[in-house]
Amino acid sequence: MTPYRLRAAALALALGGLGLACDSEEAFPNLDELDQLRSLHTLPRQPPKDLTNRVDGVARAEQLGDLLFHDPALSRCGTVSCQSCHGGDGRTVDTATAEGCGGNRTVRNPPTVLNVAYSRWFMWDGRADRLWSQATLPLTNPVEMDSDATVVAARLDDTEYRGEYQALFGKWPEEEPGPVLMTNVGKVLAAYERTLVRIDAPFDEDVKRFIAAAEAGQAEEDPAYLGLKTFVRKGQCAVCHKSPSLSDDLFHNIGVEDTGDGSGGQWAVLESLLGWDFNAAGPYSDAPSGTDARRLNTLRTQAKQEELDGAFRTPSLRNVALTAPYMHTGAQATLEDVIDFYNEGGDPAGSFVGKRTDTIVPLDLSDEEKRALVELLKSMTGAAR
Ligand code: HEC
Ligand code: HEC
Repeated sequence: MTPYRLRAAALALALGGLGLACDSEEAFPNLDELDQLRSLHTLPRQPPKDLTNRVDGVARAEQLGDLLFHDPALSRCGTVSCQSCHGGDGRTVDTATAEGCGGNRTVRNPPTVLNVAYSRWFMWDGRADRLWSQATLPLTNPVEMDSDATVVAARLDDTEYRGEYQALFGKWPEEEPGPVLMTNVGKVLAAYERTLVRIDAPFDEDVKRFIAAAEAGQAEEDPAYLGLKTFVRKGQCAVCHKSPSLSDDLFHNIGVEDTGDGSGGQWAVLESLLGWDFNAAGPYSDAPSGTDARRLNTLRTQAKQEELDGAFRTPSLRNVALTAPYMHTGAQATLEDVIDFYNEGGDPAGSFVGKRTDTIVPLDLSDEEKRALVELLKSMTGAAR
């Protein structure tokens, strides 16, 4: 118990003894909570620049990336493009897993690519640390696009792409060694993905207005009161879904049932990420000794198995109403289901790998609080640009 709660409990006991009714709860928000709220709203207009990608922010690369993202001829089967699994308003699919070449299904739920360039780690388990290197994974994954440098080079031979590639990288596609070609295509795709921004949500205005109301001592009268209070205090959601991206960009085991191939979470992929030629510190990075490369070393020294076993990346909650179903398995069909999941303190022990983090406990939410949380999540949808 915090000292405050102890005092409140003692007071409630004393008043209870006197037969007096007492609301023992501290007014929301207290000073810490107000600080938390201040950090939650308004993403910067542009995602941070990726210094490991020399064509990041280059208009010509963004345009070529747009074409390549939508081109099924980059896949070996000729029918699957990035867009196949990252299309529609939510830039994902509405099923738990997605179908790739040969009718194969992905192991996990495809995350949205909206606002993806604001993230530090990619994939549910964080096995890619840069957006351009991430793109090489679905290209070559046998259950997704099943492609390789030969298929990609043959497709880039198309006149339109060829000249653009040469203008951006100074060589013709067929002159490049396979890994250079694949990472450059990844860099062009990443340049395009960086433009898929959907920010400016009603949530941002609500939080700003709520802060002003709280500063004026009128928090309880504000329509966002119950949702924000439950998000920050009773639900503890903002412990992980924090900062304007509504993610701490870290990995947690929240106890999502999974006994399949992808259940190991970040711990299972850490060694391969650290040794990967395509990471921020590797030979294909355009800033191999920059900040992003140094982050990998921090990860190397700080990683603890008990924290990362079965741990998945905290997803951003922005645009979450557009991206059902939820969680890395896609097991939760609706936002109401997600709230029930948290209310029960996660799935039963033993139905997932590793140990659940201490923050995830049964919440004892009222129906009103559940509804307020769902409304809050729905308000996080940004305006389409
Ligand atoms: C067959 C479906 C499929 C195709 C095709 C596909 N993806 Fe994905 N994508 C997924 C799945 C599933 C994941 C999550 C995988 C995981 O976490 O293990 C994912 C993850 C991602 C992520 C990480 C997002 C995040 O927040 O971590 C990005 C970015 C992405 N894909 C971009 C692309 C690009 C670019 C292409 C084309 C080169 C592509 N995808 C093709 C299904 C697909
Ligand atoms: C301990 C950190 C933590 C806390 C606390 C937390 N979350 Fe999460 N949240 C995560 C992680 C990690 C995932 C992904 C887990 C997975 O798929 O295995 C997630 C997933 C989600 C998703 C699904 C998003 C998607 O794209 O699939 C929603 C919605 C969500 N959380 C909302 C909430 C709400 C509401 C609360 C408070 C009641 C909350 N979270 C508390 C870490 C946390």
